[in-house]
Amino acid sequence: MSLAGLVAVIAVFRLSGGPPLAHRPSDTAPAAEVARSDPRQVYRPGLLPDRVILTFAGDPATSQAVTWRTDGSLRSAVAELALATAGPGFEKGWHGYDAKAVRSLPARSEKLSAGGVEALYHSVNFTGLTPRTRYVYRVGDGTNWSEWFQFETAANTPEPFGFIYFGDAQNGIRSLWSRVARGAYSDMPKARFIVHAGDLVDNGNADAQWGEWHAAAGWINGMVPSVPTPGNHEYTGPKGLTEHWRPQFTLPDHGPAGLQESCYYIDYQGVRVIALNSNEKHAEQAAWLGPVLADNPNRWTVVTFHHPVYSPVAGRDNPAVREAWRKVFDAAPRGVDLVLQGHDHTYGRSGLMREDNTLSGTQVQTQRGTVYAVSVSGAKLYAGGDLPWMQRRGSGAQLYQLIRVDGDELTYESRTARGDLYDAFTLRKRPDGGNDLLEGEARPGPDGPSGSDAPGAAGAGEGGSRLDGRSAWNAVAAAAILALVAFGVGWAVRGR
Ligand SMILES: [Fe+2]
Repeated sequence: MSLAGLVAVIAVFRLSGGPPLAHRPSDTAPAAEVARSDPRQVYRPGLLPDRVILTFAGDPATSQAVTWRTDGSLRSAVAELALATAGPGFEKGWHGYDAKAVRSLPARSEKLSAGGVEALYHSVNFTGLTPRTRYVYRVGDGTNWSEWFQFETAANTPEPFGFIYFGDAQNGIRSLWSRVARGAYSDMPKARFIVHAGDLVDNGNADAQWGEWHAAAGWINGMVPSVPTPGNHEYTGPKGLTEHWRPQFTLPDHGPAGLQESCYYIDYQGVRVIALNSNEKHAEQAAWLGPVLADNPNRWTVVTFHHPVYSPVAGRDNPAVREAWRKVFDAAPRGVDLVLQGHDHTYGRSGLMREDNTLSGTQVQTQRGTVYAVSVSGAKLYAGGDLPWMQRRGSGAQLYQLIRVDGDELTYESRTARGDLYDAFTLRKRPDGGNDLLEGEARPGPDGPSGSDAPGAAGAGEGGSRLDGRSAWNAVAAAAILALVAFGVGWAVRGR
């Protein structure tokens, strides 16, 4: 075969998409012979506690809430709490056991009958705890117990710490979100909490989806508290916020009337973290938010909610959210440093933004303002947009974010499900209270984000080169052609 002929054959092979997929055993198995598990059976409650999850219902320095689930047959639910010791002396029958060291606390139990499943949800808020102290706890009925989990209370003064932020988990939760949840935890195992910016599941009333969500993060939820806020997919039923929300998350109820446990804040070692519910009552939350931002002794302020103030995708704008809340953020005496959002199943991140420098449509880097981020952790991925507000943009990747606060510095990293760095920046507090924004070195992978420095993008900046999926494939195809040509030449030469 001539070289030209060889190249032509390869080209036809390439255009045809290659050979048909290899024969798979499943192709021949009649579907009827394969039993399909019923998710409602898989995630049925039992005597043994499941869906064990830590949240904050009060001051993280002196309290820690836990919630869990059992079936309806339970007569009494209880949590045990002790100072964490190196040995197992907090459990009867084990070395060094000291009954006086263990506190036993009765749970508040409520019945939830939803999605075809009846269950009891139990919660205890451990209070009167010592700041910056490690505790162990277990939950159960006195006979059937969870394992012992360990957590640490916050310091009651600013101290360095890190936390995780997830955009929508929502789809493919067990099969595909689990990798992201576990990857984030393995990158930051000492994270002090996990922010979930709404759409934790696709159908907020489907108990089995909550089963997947709790199973995907598993025991991580028993050790690292969650800071959840509801998305529109937690509002899929006729009653508004899913009936699962309040039983399974024990959260502060200091929000506006009707928004208890979905609009709240916590103070954690110098950071005020505010969760808003972007699904309803925007004006009421704006009125509540003003004083929460004005009377704020913390150096840093992070706000999270579901629907973005600035959407990364044209046609998915949320003017009601922006008009109600942006001016409240801008008016905050200490500012809002970072806003963490979801909803758009793609990635976008701003520079420092205030209303007065974004209306012009130009990216003026004022030294006051808020960084807005939109991210996604689950498997449903939309095409990304390219709007003027976006300092970084990207699509096609499941992501998690690791955020660290240390004195006058807040560092932010977005990473892909593989663990690759996707976006990074640092906020540095100036003495006047404003921030300097230092863009980080993003090293995007083949499906990584484009920055302001990407080919074809306006403006200058830093960052790596970009290779999109199509050009990567073309490079692979070209390399294969060259290899085959070389092989063909060698074969032809040897054949002489
Ligand atoms: Fe979503």
